[in-house]
Amino acid sequence: MDLVYRPRRLRRTETLRRMVRETVVRPQDFIYPLFAAPGKGVRQEVAAMPGVFRLSPELLVKEAESALKLRVPAVLLFGLPRQKDDTGSEAASPRGTVQQAVRLLKKNLPELMVITDVCLCAYTSHGHCGLLHGGRVDNDATLEALAQVAVSHAEAGADLVAPSDMMDGRVGALREALDERGFEMVAILSYAVKYASAFYGPFREAADSAPAFGDRRSYQMDPANAREAVREAALDVEEGADILMVKPAGPYLDIIAQLAGEFDLPIAAYQVSGEYSMLKAAAAQGWLDETAAMLESLLAIKRAGADLILTYFAKEAAALLKG
Ligand code: PBG
Repeated sequence: MDLVYRPRRLRRTETLRRMVRETVVRPQDFIYPLFAAPGKGVRQEVAAMPGVFRLSPELLVKEAESALKLRVPAVLLFGLPRQKDDTGSEAASPRGTVQQAVRLLKKNLPELMVITDVCLCAYTSHGHCGLLHGGRVDNDATLEALAQVAVSHAEAGADLVAPSDMMDGRVGALREALDERGFEMVAILSYAVKYASAFYGPFREAADSAPAFGDRRSYQMDPANAREAVREAALDVEEGADILMVKPAGPYLDIIAQLAGEFDLPIAAYQVSGEYSMLKAAAAQGWLDETAAMLESLLAIKRAGADLILTYFAKEAAALLKG
């Protein structure tokens, strides 16, 4: 055969392959999600997420420290309240689990970037992400509550806040409230494009945040829509978002690529609980090579255009990518 171009020439040895490799995943790309539980000495494994634990603040600091040692620069905190109520009031309490955990993390690991999830779903008795009026999630009433939550996280020392509620106008509401209190340097990592996804199932067990009735489709995005993602992201940019997130990640690589092409802000992607659980379950059955499948899934998210990846695999992957 007289082929002018043989793609296999550059695939011949590992050194050659490394030389022409287009995408590299590094521990610095990861953000590690953690679940803060009230109390002391609490370490409960989430049944559907082997290797993921609900941790009380002092154990959470240990976990974050071991991630930081592996060069994972940031954590994203979710909190479990002591008590739920109609308005999710514990979410903004200075004595709340997340606020405690943030203070402890910043005191012990000052160089770690601490990001907090801003939402009400784990704190409300009905499990919806906002305040209810007449059985519906009231958008504008929710904004004020979310702003208070974000300010309480900033007061505790959060470096970034990450609103995940999908109310309209929440990035602007948070930016204004943070600036008013002198937190103009606290950044907003917006869950700009968050789909109403079945892949959040295991997380809702971890955070005990499943809606008591109905679903989230009146505020989270329809998985069928791609152009709407650009519109959602543009709104968040106008309102002052610093980083745009797409969620879930693996099933939405086209959306990540589109946002990376259209916007000049950093793009984050959230490899969600269901994506993690699927790989873990298949590996446990011996159906997939866990390490290889994990690294490939992260590489694909980076290749699609994500600068940052939120993943429950952060520590495992960082340990392999080290060096
Ligand atoms: C809260 C929130 C959810 C996730 C992150 N923040 C669940 C939801 O919207 O129901 C999902 C994360 C995951 O599945 O890993 N609004």
